[in-house]
Amino acid sequence: MISVNNLGMQFGKRVLFQDVNMKFTPGNCYGIIGANGAGKSTLMRILSDQLSPTHGNVTQGPGERMSVLEQDHFKFDDCTVLETVMRGHTVLWDIMQEKDALYAKPDFSDEDGVRAAELEEKFAELEGWNAESDAAALLSGLGIKEDKHQMLMRDLSGNEKVRVLLAKALFGNPDNLLLDEPTNDLDLETVSWLEDYLSKFENTVLVVSHDRHFLDSVCTHTLDIDYNKMTLFAGNYSFWYESSQLALRQQQQQNKKAEEKRKELLEFIQRFSANVAKSKQTTSRKKMLEKLNVEEIQPSSRRYPGIIFTPSREPGNKILEVKGLTASVDGDLLFKDVNFQIEKGDKVCFLSHDPRAMTALFEIINGRRKPDAGQYEWGQTITTAYLPLDNSEFFNTDMNLVDWLCQFSDDSSEIYLKGFLGKMLFSG
Ligand SMILES: Nc1ncnc2c1ncn2[C@@H]1O[C@H](COP(=O)(O)OP(=O)(O)O)[C@@H](O)[C@H]1O
Ligand SMILES: [Mg+2]
Repeated sequence: MISVNNLGMQFGKRVLFQDVNMKFTPGNCYGIIGANGAGKSTLMRILSDQLSPTHGNVTQGPGERMSVLEQDHFKFDDCTVLETVMRGHTVLWDIMQEKDALYAKPDFSDEDGVRAAELEEKFAELEGWNAESDAAALLSGLGIKEDKHQMLMRDLSGNEKVRVLLAKALFGNPDNLLLDEPTNDLDLETVSWLEDYLSKFENTVLVVSHDRHFLDSVCTHTLDIDYNKMTLFAGNYSFWYESSQLALRQQQQQNKKAEEKRKELLEFIQRFSANVAKSKQTTSRKKMLEKLNVEEIQPSSRRYPGIIFTPSREPGNKILEVKGLTASVDGDLLFKDVNFQIEKGDKVCFLSHDPRAMTALFEIINGRRKPDAGQYEWGQTITTAYLPLDNSEFFNTDMNLVDWLCQFSDDSSEIYLKGFLGKMLFSG
């Protein structure tokens, strides 16, 4: 169990949160939500002791082990994949290292023998003999096949590294598991594997995510960081959404009533202020007016409704027609005889196991590449905008494209951007 006591954090004058008192208990999965810059990652770094808070402290239950999804993708570049995963259980890993060093000594003393026996006992307690096979099973579940387990991390693609680092975080059944945006860069199958894994996980999970489908399927609780404070809801993302909308509506209705009452009182006071016969009533109304409280509704740091596409003119019914499209790359057939029609109002998600197929299809329908066969035709009134996979031509900064787009979006559009449309629709 993680306990947070009087926790406060600010950078310079900017207060991210203050006076936070909370307990994160086993068996629960806490989804941490909030706009970009609200302080979600900062909270995770404080909880995992990578950053000191301005006020208060964080404690774990006695003997508990915490595991954190590593954000530095290059940290384990010199380690093999399997080793990286096993390093996730630092206690077990240290025992293994010490044991190996002892046995490698040319002059193995009696003292060494005693120490080795101690280590063997701890090793057995932690089921060290299963470590390799457990790590391998996690990796396979995350789609990293066995032929890659002995490779160096530096030789993996970015996408594969993310999955190994996820396996590292999950390895050894930690008591407290902290995952900051774990579904970024994962394909749909891996996300659903992770959903399944976390649903069965019996200890405490804290997960930051903008993916509401993911949050709904794994979370028992929702921790919202907004208005510079943290609010814990006992329920998943949809529950949080409904309750926060309801609370907002109630507040608005209350304010509306108070505002009407205020107008009524003011009118009376103005009308009869010179009327001596009514002076008592006027005074009592003045007092009522002073007491009337129009609760200020603070602006949320969330931005609704996110990205809005405004067409330069109303589209006709036919948006796109694709007939018999076929494409291949380096002799590999990517797709053959693809036919579909998109009409006004359709929202289409393109999925493929081969990202090259998506890129090829999007490059073709945007006139950047010739198909091997087939045609496509956009509706007469259609104008298109296309953000290609290689978007370096648009940006000279080193800002991540998705982060750039998310500046303009709310939570729900980020889900699409970061979840799958980000890969499919925008980057082809
Ligand atoms: N080391 C730091 N120094 C100063 N400001 C920081 C530091 N780390 C984060 N911040 C600021 O704190 C705010 C919260 O950041 P972060 O926790 O990363 O947000 P989130 O993960 O919710 O998007 C941001 O405005 C960020 O610029
Ligand atoms: Mg963050």
